[in-house]
Amino acid sequence: MQNDCPKLILAPMAGYTDYPFRRLAREFGADEVVTELVSANAIVRNNRKTLKMLGLHDDERPASIQIFGSDPAVMAEAAKIVETFDPLFIDLNMGCPVRKVVRNGAGSALLTNKETAEKIMKDVVGAVKTPVSVKIRTGKNHADKTGFDVALLAADCGVRRVTVHARTVADGFTGPVDYDFVALLKKRVDVEVIGNGGITSVEKAREWMDRTGCDGLMVGRGAVGRPSIFRAIRENKDYLPKEESVMVLRHIDLVEEFAGPGGLGPMRGHLVHYSKGFEKARSFRQEVVSARSFEELRAVVVEYMNDSVEVVNDRAV
Ligand SMILES: Cc1cc2nc3c(=O)[nH]c(=O)nc-3n(C[C@H](O)[C@H](O)[C@H](O)COP(=O)(O)O)c2cc1C
Repeated sequence: MQNDCPKLILAPMAGYTDYPFRRLAREFGADEVVTELVSANAIVRNNRKTLKMLGLHDDERPASIQIFGSDPAVMAEAAKIVETFDPLFIDLNMGCPVRKVVRNGAGSALLTNKETAEKIMKDVVGAVKTPVSVKIRTGKNHADKTGFDVALLAADCGVRRVTVHARTVADGFTGPVDYDFVALLKKRVDVEVIGNGGITSVEKAREWMDRTGCDGLMVGRGAVGRPSIFRAIRENKDYLPKEESVMVLRHIDLVEEFAGPGGLGPMRGHLVHYSKGFEKARSFRQEVVSARSFEELRAVVVEYMNDSVEVVNDRAV
């Protein structure tokens, strides 16, 4: 996909899409990134750790901030605070199936509580100048695709972008995506429609575009262990291990610089994902787990992605 490449967006993923990963995705072809979901309640309570999650760096922009909650007044209040961090969109989570979130009436619970969903969207749009987007699923299950109604309400409320993870809540994270839902929605609303779900290859990205005509694609798990997927989709080709290893070393550098020693654990997790498909994945993972410093992690990467040795020598730049 070169000339006709749609907008490519890194999906919000709690525990993965921190600043180093978002920046890496931008460096490797993503047009936009989104923070993981942030609690509106915690924002309005001025929780210091939560407010830190809202900080965006200039070199990752355009970047959106996603919030979740179930109380329209709290969501509007939180959105006002979020606006001061100057995100591209304030994104409202209406798709999260995690029990802790749904139990409180937030996330995907809003797909079956249209009144509250509408009030949240109206109140947030009315409270801020920043464009508002919403991320939904198609519905609770295959018999109940209320996501469509919520998407139509969103357009009526002044929401400017609807991102559809084109699966039902019941389907979780597997199963086929509902291209027809997205294609129909694209025909019915004037707002931007972004497609999400199962984009793990250049071919899948092409299929999404051919089947839906949506305005952009959001990639989640396809980017974990392979942030260069954005560049691959854009340029219609896969990359050599040598080039991938430069990216992995770059990731380690970013985590060391911005997270410090606390980033060592999460970086090990990322490296396990990077090793998918490695011939010697098992021993690579063992060495990653026992590495005690960023320097040791770099050495393991260089050893296993050995095509890259002469390129990287020391550190990626
Ligand atoms: C570990 C993990 C964390 C996620 N966290 C969020 C989140 O914070 N907000 C959100 O809207 N979706 C979240 N999602 C859902 C993704 O954004 C995306 O909609 C979903 O994974 C489907 O896209 P994919 O098939 O490309 O992964 C998460 C998914 C995963 C796997």
